[in-house]
Amino acid sequence: MELTDRNIQLSKDLFGSDFDWGVSTAAFQVEGAHDADGKGLSVWDVFTAKKGKILNGDHAIEACDFYNRYEQDIDLIKQLSIPNFRFSISWTRILPDGTGRVNQAGIDYYNRVINYCIKQGIEPWLTVYHWDLPHVLEVKGGWTNREVIGWFSEFITICAQNFGDRVKHWMVMNEPVVFTGAGYFFGIHAPGRSGMKNFTPAIHHVTLSIAEGGRILRKLLPASAQIGTTFSCSQITPYTDKPKDIAAAVRADALINRLYIEPLLGMGYPIADLPALRDLKKYFYPGDEDKLKFDFDFIGIQNYTREVVKHSFFTPYIQASMVKAEKRGVELTAMRWEVYPPSIYHMIKKYDAYPGVKKIIITENGSAFPDSVTDGEVNDPQRRQYLQNYIAQVLKAKNEGCKVSGYFVWTLTDNFEWAEGYHPRFGLIHVDHATQKRTVKASGRWYGEFLKG
Ligand code: NOJ
Repeated sequence: MELTDRNIQLSKDLFGSDFDWGVSTAAFQVEGAHDADGKGLSVWDVFTAKKGKILNGDHAIEACDFYNRYEQDIDLIKQLSIPNFRFSISWTRILPDGTGRVNQAGIDYYNRVINYCIKQGIEPWLTVYHWDLPHVLEVKGGWTNREVIGWFSEFITICAQNFGDRVKHWMVMNEPVVFTGAGYFFGIHAPGRSGMKNFTPAIHHVTLSIAEGGRILRKLLPASAQIGTTFSCSQITPYTDKPKDIAAAVRADALINRLYIEPLLGMGYPIADLPALRDLKKYFYPGDEDKLKFDFDFIGIQNYTREVVKHSFFTPYIQASMVKAEKRGVELTAMRWEVYPPSIYHMIKKYDAYPGVKKIIITENGSAFPDSVTDGEVNDPQRRQYLQNYIAQVLKAKNEGCKVSGYFVWTLTDNFEWAEGYHPRFGLIHVDHATQKRTVKASGRWYGEFLKG
């Protein structure tokens, strides 16, 4: 019988005992304590303080106060029987000036978090960089300045030296196309730069830094360490089967799904399919072709939705525009993203087909819906259904032989969703942002029961 999201009886056992199940977070979105114990300011601290940048004027000064409540939150992970916890390191807690002086209090904090995970039997998975560049480095050009490769190398070296004895799974960066696209092309994320003149150099320096970060981890970590990096991805569907829409979908795919992974795999940037990127060559130094490559042990892929794309003369550079999900009459999340489970299956297939990809972990998947607490309960059937349907599609890809060997829900607690502030609730656990009270949602209880078997 064909496996569809309707007829499958989901069970953890179908994935095998070596499949890694987990939950993901990121420092800036949960920690708060924005200047505690010597922490320096990141681009996101500065961006959120500017008027009009974040919906409802929200900021992350306190966020979920994970900095002070990490034991309680890790206890909840344990309570839900989630064996792996992915989180990120705030660069400016460790290097308040971006480079140079090391803040021991920052190192001590991450040691406490890592040690508490291990004490509770939870495996820590580290993302080194999840978008919070030190502000002092942004003043020097941030990712547009080639010196950033050295700055980032210093940061990742300190992480490896301090946490490498206990952390076995590492991810160099999170979703490069999102932080460079939103932060350096559209200007809607920190640091708020825009245009190809910022985007193009940022792409090249980020890719070089990911590869260099991989090499540093390989050199400093024990041979058994698993080194990866994560990519956002969305299935791209042409709006019609007209050649123009199909060509627009090819360009969008090059930008959204191929831009970073292909140079890292040694295939070069997909400039042939997206000529707007041709200026990337201007930023090459001799030897860069080789420096762009790194042989990762795994790649993390993060999928939420798909995009429907049509040709548009009016969209500069890419000449392709997205047909908004709300205009297509499909089921939407609070992010106005289409709920489309087959997207994750197609993305696993797509990345599995690259010869250089050894292993795939779904490092993020999840959904935001407008949940509320009633009589101490959060009833969120849409999230549960979403998770079940997407997990079923992961199983389908695995059963067809894809090298997918892990799945992490985004996210543990409702948290700070970047420019969208606190209104999208992605958590398995509800957070009352006024009181910091946590309430496990029905979907969280379901995930826990699923993981218990
Ligand atoms: C991708 C990002 O890694 C994460 O920070 C974000 O909150 C989720 N997706 C949801 O948008």
